[in-house]
Amino acid sequence: MRNAEQAACPIHADFDPLSPAFLADPFAVLNSLPGEARVFYAPSIDYYVVTRYADIEEVFLDHETYSAAPAQRPLVQLVPEAVQILLAGGHQPQPSMVSLDQPAHTRLRAPTARAFTPRRVEQMEPRIRATVDQLLNTIDPFTPFDLVSALSFPLPATIIFSFVGIPERDWPQLKEWCGHRATLAWGRPTPDEQVHHARNMAAYRNYLRGLVATKAHARDDTFASALLAIHDEDPKALTYEEIASILYSLTFAGHETTNFLIGNVVRRLLEDPVRWDAVVADAALIPGAVHETLRYDPSVPVWRRVTTRAVTLGGVNLPQGAKLFLWLAASGRDASVFPEPETFDLRRANAAKTLAFGRGIHYCLGAALGKLEAEIALEALTIRCPRLRLVGGQELSFHPNISFRGPEALWVVCRPR
Ligand code: HEM
Repeated sequence: MRNAEQAACPIHADFDPLSPAFLADPFAVLNSLPGEARVFYAPSIDYYVVTRYADIEEVFLDHETYSAAPAQRPLVQLVPEAVQILLAGGHQPQPSMVSLDQPAHTRLRAPTARAFTPRRVEQMEPRIRATVDQLLNTIDPFTPFDLVSALSFPLPATIIFSFVGIPERDWPQLKEWCGHRATLAWGRPTPDEQVHHARNMAAYRNYLRGLVATKAHARDDTFASALLAIHDEDPKALTYEEIASILYSLTFAGHETTNFLIGNVVRRLLEDPVRWDAVVADAALIPGAVHETLRYDPSVPVWRRVTTRAVTLGGVNLPQGAKLFLWLAASGRDASVFPEPETFDLRRANAAKTLAFGRGIHYCLGAALGKLEAEIALEALTIRCPRLRLVGGQELSFHPNISFRGPEALWVVCRPR
């Protein structure tokens, strides 16, 4: 039921982030909204959509007024059977770090940050390079290939799964579970699909519990074992169940986000070959190209919060319990922060100001790793395929969910004849 306070808020009845038109081109929808649509209510999802950089940053930085609880909550009301399966599988409504508030968040974030050090990320560089080479070695330069299945999907999966300590034979299963997870929490599955996804989520969590139990008796130099070493110091401060929950965070967060980032970078550079040629001519432009893509077309375009009290945001009075759809992709097009936001500018001085990795206490733990993977992938492609081009006439498709966006396939050719 909408109350009087909400009446002050503009409503956009047609706004549906899972409609085919939105999935195909969210920026066309953004540009069609009236200028005053700074914060508006979208009945299709029962969320308040926040579009401006300053407002989203304010939300991220005030974790007391804005709870992270809905970050992974299914966008649709789940049927009771699906809820039961999830709960029985130990999958709570706030299932891991990114949707927990303090102090529960710190309990998981602190040991994760201790085990996921910048040094460990640096140490991954040779493995990232070797994996990129291995994947690109299989490509015939004269035949069109799908960059997603050839490189951007397998690369981050290989890196994060081996880092965490998932045995290679289980990687295909993990990748499949990640797909179920994306649809269940961020898509609009039918009741039957919900039950199917919920069973897979329970199996996914159960697998990770088993992995922690196995590693406890067979330590190695992986991230899982580093967390177990922290557990040994004080078993009550970090339980096995919590370690499994951290692994649940990383196996997903380290995968689809980066897959889509690489797809988006290559797509945006090749859309105008002048951009690609500039990066080929000057590798120093690569980090800027990655940041500019995160601003212009981020792989995590939306993140969510809920208000813990009545508050005014962007001139709109929000009641307690207002669910917020933080449109990170729109914040990258905010002209008050990024002049001429519709221009993809490889040399944009402040592209790194993007909110694509969040801000504040939940700031993305894997930002450095994700960027490193994208930079190395791009560097290898520019060296091996300086004349890389998009295959003409392809229509891009996007997985139907609100929070993870990049082409599902991107056909390119390394050496066009
Ligand atoms: C490369 C593209 C990536 C993007 C665009 C991205 C984006 C994000 C965003 C928007 C958040 C939420 C921030 C907030 O709530 O304030 C987040 C959190 C997180 N990300 Fe990433 N991410 C990426 C890569 C990665 C990678 C490679 C990893 C893992 C190795 C990772 C691990 C995490 C974790 C663990 C959190 C939760 C942090 C917390 O709640 O304290 N991310 N990320």
